[in-house]
Amino acid sequence: MKNLSLFSAILLFATCIIFSCKKDTVAPADPCTGVTISINSSQSAPTTGQNNGSITVTATPSGTYTYSINNGAYQSSNIFNNLAAGNYTIMAKNADGCTSASTSVTLSANNPCNGVNITLTPATTYADVCPTASNGSITITANGSSGYTYSKDGGTTFQASNVFSNLAAGNYPVVVKDVNGCTKSQTVSVSSNPGGVNFNLVRNLMIARCGNCHFNGGSDGGVNFDDKCNIVTKWDRINTRCVVQGTMPPTPLSTTEKQTITNWVNAGHRYID
Ligand code: HEC
Repeated sequence: MKNLSLFSAILLFATCIIFSCKKDTVAPADPCTGVTISINSSQSAPTTGQNNGSITVTATPSGTYTYSINNGAYQSSNIFNNLAAGNYTIMAKNADGCTSASTSVTLSANNPCNGVNITLTPATTYADVCPTASNGSITITANGSSGYTYSKDGGTTFQASNVFSNLAAGNYPVVVKDVNGCTKSQTVSVSSNPGGVNFNLVRNLMIARCGNCHFNGGSDGGVNFDDKCNIVTKWDRINTRCVVQGTMPPTPLSTTEKQTITNWVNAGHRYID
């Protein structure tokens, strides 16, 4: 009986040692056990070539979180700004240090010109002929976007005004650029002034009646009228010979034909009359 008591005492003592030892080494309960943090994210796409995208992270369940992107330092804001297009890894951590699974977010670049359809409506005025002048113009009306600048040299130089003046006749590669650099191109022709009604009636009459003596390279009496401006320059001689004197052409003009020349002379005998 005495031995048994001693044995019990020893056993109790040993048990105490074991328990007290255990008490010192047992880990505290893991606060993350049973905690599942999920992440949702919304994003704003960056513009092509720019760092202006963002990712906004929402962690659940509700609580106080810090957030990390690409395994960087945790921050208190749930918004990551100034991001370029690319893949990002997002994590959230709660106040107890429990973390979410890392979540991949892809930011795709947003081309600012997608869906932008600029239309151009050019209006032109003629460049003069006889004398030849660089006084044509192009006025461009653009629609479909905003903040336009205008080029008539294929996009090398742009100006704020939609009017190009002092242009020689010819083709101009017009480019219009909007506020985001989206462009629309169109070749615009500045025509030579086609001539006035009276002038063209006289010219047609002369082609019919002066024939190869003065057209198609012919230059009887040293006069050739293939160049329209020679008709303008020689208006007085044409009037004198064909109307006043009636000595040219060799078969004289009819009264009606003479009147056609008279009408042009009276209108000012210019190319544009
Ligand atoms: C069959 C050929 C012939 C035809 C057609 C003819 N001419 Fe001539 N033209 C001549 C000859 C030849 C001369 C040079 C002799 C002269 O001056 O009469 C001349 C000279 C001229 C001259 C330069 C002399 C000057 O007086 O200044 C003019 C201008 C002229 N013609 C205008 C006309 C016009 C305009 C027509 C048509 C409406 C015309 N001619 C039709 C043969 C022609």
